Amino acid sequence: MDKKSRIDLKKVPNHVAVIMDGNGRWAKGQGMNRIFGHRNALTAVRETVNGALSVGTKAVTLYAFSTENWNRPKAEVTALMTLLVNSLINELDTFMQNDVKVNAIGDIQSLPKKAQKTLQNVVQKTSNNRSLVLTFALSYGAREEIVNTIKNISKKVVNNELSIEEIDEKIINNHLYTFNLPDVDLMIRTSGEQRISNFLLWQMAYAELYFTNILWPDFRKEHFYDAIIDYQNRERRFGKTSEQITSVEE
Ligand code: IPE
Ligand code: IPE
Ligand code: MG
Repeated sequence: MDKKSRIDLKKVPNHVAVIMDGNGRWAKGQGMNRIFGHRNALTAVRETVNGALSVGTKAVTLYAFSTENWNRPKAEVTALMTLLVNSLINELDTFMQNDVKVNAIGDIQSLPKKAQKTLQNVVQKTSNNRSLVLTFALSYGAREEIVNTIKNISKKVVNNELSIEEIDEKIINNHLYTFNLPDVDLMIRTSGEQRISNFLLWQMAYAELYFTNILWPDFRKEHFYDAIIDYQNRERRFGKTSEQITSVEE
């Protein structure tokens, strides 16, 4: 049976976050340098987006560059930034055809000016698209996001726009880079590493975590479906008992 037909289209995750990992090891396996791996990552991005569109997932967030990735060799950082700019320009038509809205989270101002401009343009041009919100996490770190959030909330308190008593989970949520996104339902990480690496800490509080040994450049739509099927076989209890979840009354 083909994989997609095993998916219950009424129970797909709303928001899937992906740690796209393993480009360097993939390239090494081909006897090539790390940058070759990054160049071959685009197919996997396209396949993931198409997979999400075909099952009806409304939001996909891709971890493309972390705050920690600035510490990589300069040539690799530059290559990643160039690839980002070129890919966004090249994919714009496809985003329009597929009704994909592009969004960015992270310390965007730390990106090179050219990347910021391209990003801004693609975000603006795709802003009315509705089938899928595709968010790129760029110069993103969950701890940096939390610091930024605390600063912005504190400013409002100091300016008397907000009282300390009013600060609750909703207020915090509304000040995160992801303010317009739902919580993450499913997090996929490729390459066999089983860690979070400073990704969406707040938003993943109750996400189901899925790890696969596939290296990111080899990731295809079928692998995305595998993750969805695995997700659908789990019982999300959110602290309740299994009986409460399965009974009709709750
Ligand atoms: C993921 O692949 C891409 C980025 C972090 C930008 P890596 O470059 O981390 O590949 P590995 O983990 O070294 O194989
Ligand atoms: C996480 O991958 C960041 C991205 C995928 C952009 P890394 O390869 O940087 O993570 P660590 O260092 O192995 O945890
Ligand atoms: Mg890695």
